[in-house]
Amino acid sequence: MLSRIQGFMNIGMKLNSLSGRIYSFLIFSITMNAQPKGYLYDESKVIFYQLPDPLVCQDGTKVETAQTWIEKRRPEILKLFKEEVYGESPENRIPMRIKIAEEGQDALGGKAIRKQVAILLGESSRTLSINLLLYLPKVSNQPLPAFLTLNFQGNHTVHSDPAILLPNTWVRNRNGIKDNQAREKDRGLAASRWAINEMINRGYAFATVYYGDIDPDFDDGFQNGIHALFPLLESEKRKWSDWGSIAGWAWGLSRCLDFLEQDPRIDGKRVAVMGHSRLGKTSLWAGAIDERFAMVISNNSGCGGAALSRRRFGETVKRINTSFPHWFCENYKKYNDKEENCPVDQHMLIALAAPRPVYIASAEEDRWADPKGEFLSALHAEPVYQLFGKIFGAKKQPLLNQPVHRQIGYHVRNGKHDVTAYDWNQYLDFADQHLK
Ligand code: GCU
Repeated sequence: MLSRIQGFMNIGMKLNSLSGRIYSFLIFSITMNAQPKGYLYDESKVIFYQLPDPLVCQDGTKVETAQTWIEKRRPEILKLFKEEVYGESPENRIPMRIKIAEEGQDALGGKAIRKQVAILLGESSRTLSINLLLYLPKVSNQPLPAFLTLNFQGNHTVHSDPAILLPNTWVRNRNGIKDNQAREKDRGLAASRWAINEMINRGYAFATVYYGDIDPDFDDGFQNGIHALFPLLESEKRKWSDWGSIAGWAWGLSRCLDFLEQDPRIDGKRVAVMGHSRLGKTSLWAGAIDERFAMVISNNSGCGGAALSRRRFGETVKRINTSFPHWFCENYKKYNDKEENCPVDQHMLIALAAPRPVYIASAEEDRWADPKGEFLSALHAEPVYQLFGKIFGAKKQPLLNQPVHRQIGYHVRNGKHDVTAYDWNQYLDFADQHLK
């Protein structure tokens, strides 16, 4: 719940106008309640819906082979998600430079090497710096598999390591922060969400970036962050299919992967992208647009992530587009209260990861994110995996804390909206199975 409150506060805190303050208050009050009122939480009231078939092309052709999926249907679905949901990211390359900001040979009690690099994007007159924190286990000289993640509050919050550099970009005002500046005293604040020691012990590198480095999470008309590197010409207007913040964060993850591919200690072919909540939506989209990611993990991603929108259970398309108008493209607003008109639903997003291993995780009390809808998405993505001879392995939603780990991984654990040690144990087991 805390992160949900933070998420909403984030929006309001950045608006200085009176309406902004009222909006902030409303959103904050609503979300003090983990499950905002006025939304559907009763399974028996879920309306009848029909999902678009991932295996029927727009011209009616049935997809019967992996080849037809790869050559015809996958590109169609990807295009629909770009145009109607997340928005199209720019195709053109921009200059990218790497600056090593810091290195420590004896990090985490001597078990790991720490590297902090600035990924500098754009011309020198307008540069965006994405600051990546990397821990590498000192195991062997072989290139390592890695987890690449985005974090919510700054790299310094993922571990109490005093050498981690603080972000100098905007951070949300919360827990007493009033000036949108990161603070020393927040080191390790979110450490419970990051099983860094376990990753290192099990031979994985861990890479993380503060998502605000890529795009500050508030509606500023796409003037700052990554969008500012691709300014529109004066004669141009933003298109209904132009990228929103989720697409921006996903694009930033691809630039991080560009860097990881160059690092001799990392095996660029074994990088898993993982994210929680809005950043779980982001990891799914990153895995869809960038097939270099070898594994995709979505933790409690909910609406606009793994959950089926047509169920309208918990958070709805209208609600997410209203609370977070900058996350998706404008076209997505056409489906407010009209989910059935959208040519895609979220099972097709999961299918875009095929045949790579994908993991969907839910939490029992996280009804806002619709655990059952997250499971059903995975289930309805399975026919695409079957084209590749791969299976999910579950026909019904597994019982609490009974993970299923085949090519699609799934669990629903007890507890609330969060990332826990239990979640990471599953991701590490799943990664052992697929990346080692
Ligand atoms: C809000 C939002 C969710 C999102 C979450 C988060 O609760 O409604 O869609 O996943 O914030 O990112 O923490």
